[in-house]
Amino acid sequence: MIMKVTKTNNLFGDVYISGSKNAALPCICAALLTKEQVKLINVPDIEDVNNLLTIIKDLGVKVKKEEDILTISAGRVKTKVINHLVSKLRGSYYLMGSLLARKRKVQIIYPGGCEIGERPIDFHLQGFKETGCEVNDTKEIIEITKKIDKETSITFPSLSMGATINIILSTCIGNGITTITNPSLEPETLCVIEMLNNMGACIIIEDNKIQINGVKKLKGVNYHIIYDRIEAGSYLFLAGSIPFSKVTLHNVDHKHLEVVIVVARKIGIKITKIDNGLIVEGPEKINKTNILIGPYPFFPTDLQQILTVVLTRSDTSKIEDAIFPDRIAHLKELRKMHAYVYDYNRIIYIKKSKLKSSKVKATDLRCAFALIIAGSMAKGTSYIMDIDYLFRGYVTPVKKLKAIGLNVEII
Ligand code: EPU
Repeated sequence: MIMKVTKTNNLFGDVYISGSKNAALPCICAALLTKEQVKLINVPDIEDVNNLLTIIKDLGVKVKKEEDILTISAGRVKTKVINHLVSKLRGSYYLMGSLLARKRKVQIIYPGGCEIGERPIDFHLQGFKETGCEVNDTKEIIEITKKIDKETSITFPSLSMGATINIILSTCIGNGITTITNPSLEPETLCVIEMLNNMGACIIIEDNKIQINGVKKLKGVNYHIIYDRIEAGSYLFLAGSIPFSKVTLHNVDHKHLEVVIVVARKIGIKITKIDNGLIVEGPEKINKTNILIGPYPFFPTDLQQILTVVLTRSDTSKIEDAIFPDRIAHLKELRKMHAYVYDYNRIIYIKKSKLKSSKVKATDLRCAFALIIAGSMAKGTSYIMDIDYLFRGYVTPVKKLKAIGLNVEII
């Protein structure tokens, strides 16, 4: 698919933020931990979620989707996850954790996801081993069997949301007691923990540690997924990048975006907090800044490419992404639009640039949104090839973008 984007002078209106992609994926997998019915509310209608639903239906799970409400009944569930869609999304790796808890074994093909540099799953597999599993990894298919329930303490080499959630999922049923001493405490992790505890799990967060006390079984639940802080941040920087724009974002949890708001204000974007929302006003001038990206509560890596585009309006700025330093494919595309952006020693340097329209290519989900912002800032009409990536993680993006006045069209 190709998206046509034409320079936009100012943006006005409202954006309603949807449910969080990175919380919905593990919450859907958590629903397989019980035979009882689970109702998930505020589930985003995006390709990654729809692909995960196809995979679990293939496992024998019953799924009903009505608008943003999903009803999941995993009365029976198979343990062989061989659907080719597994390699299309990262979040499919949560099926390892949920099937280990529910069936004590799983066979799954390697998870995929956006190409944003190295994305190993060694922490997950090491964590499974440390909690009593036998792992057979052929690099194409992973076979894991839970052999014993243990009392274990796990320390990951660095913070990982995926590995933290996978170990929580895999150990919350059974007789083991697992302590994760350096867990990721991102809002999405806390969301899954809350859902599991509402299902009868016993997961305690204390002193920056997570203790998971295995229980005999879990029950059904109705659970409301958190709103997507990355979608909110994406529209925030879009509105902030176009001078004299005024856009109201609804369904925003301020505390999930604290550092994003600080950074946005520092570069000159005017932000007013309202009840469950933000009013964003695009300034005439963007100030330069230096940003270090790290695990929550640091500035999120998922907004790095988007911030890069906004900073082409500032004097020399620097971004260091300590999580995915190789998430830099957008730089080449932005250079086609005359952006002065380059990476040196794993740091992105951005100089003030006058963007010109061009034909560019989306290389991943967040790059797709970043290029839309670039297209709306650049003189003329730009064409973004492979815009399909956008639909993996943004709900009805064309409708939401047009609603605030962006000149976009899928051609
Ligand atoms: N890491 C390892 N080994 C592992 C796991 C992680 O070395 O086994 C490293 C990674 O290479 C990375 C760091 O640890 O340097 C953090 O990775 P993490 O496990 O937290 O990331 P992830 O689970 O692969 C999720 C999101 C990403 C988001 C990151 C960071 C999902 C499905 N994906 O990925 O979302 O960027 O956390 O917050 O939840 C996106 O939405 O665009 C996206 C890529």
